[in-house]
Amino acid sequence: MAVKAALPEGTKVPCHVGVIMDGNGRWAKKRGLPRKFGHREGAKTFREITRHAKRLGISYITYYAFSTENWKRPQDEVNAIMELFEKYLDEVRDFIEENIRVRFIGDRSKLSENLQRKMASVEEDSKDFDSMTLVLAINYGGRDEIAHSCRALAEKVRRGELEPDDISTELIEQNLYTEEIPPVDLVIRPSGEQRLSNFMIWQAAYAEFYYTNILWPDFKGSDLEAAVLDYSERNRRFGGI
Ligand code: FPP
Repeated sequence: MAVKAALPEGTKVPCHVGVIMDGNGRWAKKRGLPRKFGHREGAKTFREITRHAKRLGISYITYYAFSTENWKRPQDEVNAIMELFEKYLDEVRDFIEENIRVRFIGDRSKLSENLQRKMASVEEDSKDFDSMTLVLAINYGGRDEIAHSCRALAEKVRRGELEPDDISTELIEQNLYTEEIPPVDLVIRPSGEQRLSNFMIWQAAYAEFYYTNILWPDFKGSDLEAAVLDYSERNRRFGGI
């Protein structure tokens, strides 16, 4: 059954929302369950919140699913997260039916070939859809992304296609994984932590932040609405007055 999205008239809905899906491990621990159960519940929340974001009129939603630092976790947990990606990449096809474009950001080369193949095919099959863009950050790190952009530009300089003096913020931006994806307007971090943790450090330069103590598996559509309403009240000045 379709849930009607209810936001007061005049609410300023952010164009691009970034979500740090935090608190899965603690959610499981509180219930005496292994951490991977928390990730499983977190993946269900991801599905619900994506649909709700579309109903609210959010154009881009980016989830921090796996960072370049998350490989340090126990192998068993890393495997469980990778299995969830595989499962959800199949399910992400349901999003395609809802006209949602799917994109991935991050260094794919360290992911399994099967996962890389599925990612490429979901991107290809959804590339013309325009109701919303869902971005999944997998093996993603903001610093790593900036280094990736610098390498691409350095290569152009080496080939004589670019002068060092012509390197601008726009050129760096065009060579980030996000390419044509607009900057982030609102970053939501549940679970009580108040840090960016290397998530879209370039794109979030002027983002508003919303923190809540709710753990990600417990995060509901109404919590997304609360974040959007809070954002709507903010006075964004982008360095001006
Ligand atoms: C952070 O919580 C969460 C992660 C590192 C993994 C997020 C992955 C998923 C929700 C799996 C599926 C995702 C998709 C897109 C299908 P934490 O483990 O750091 O929690 P803690 O701080 O309570 O330990």
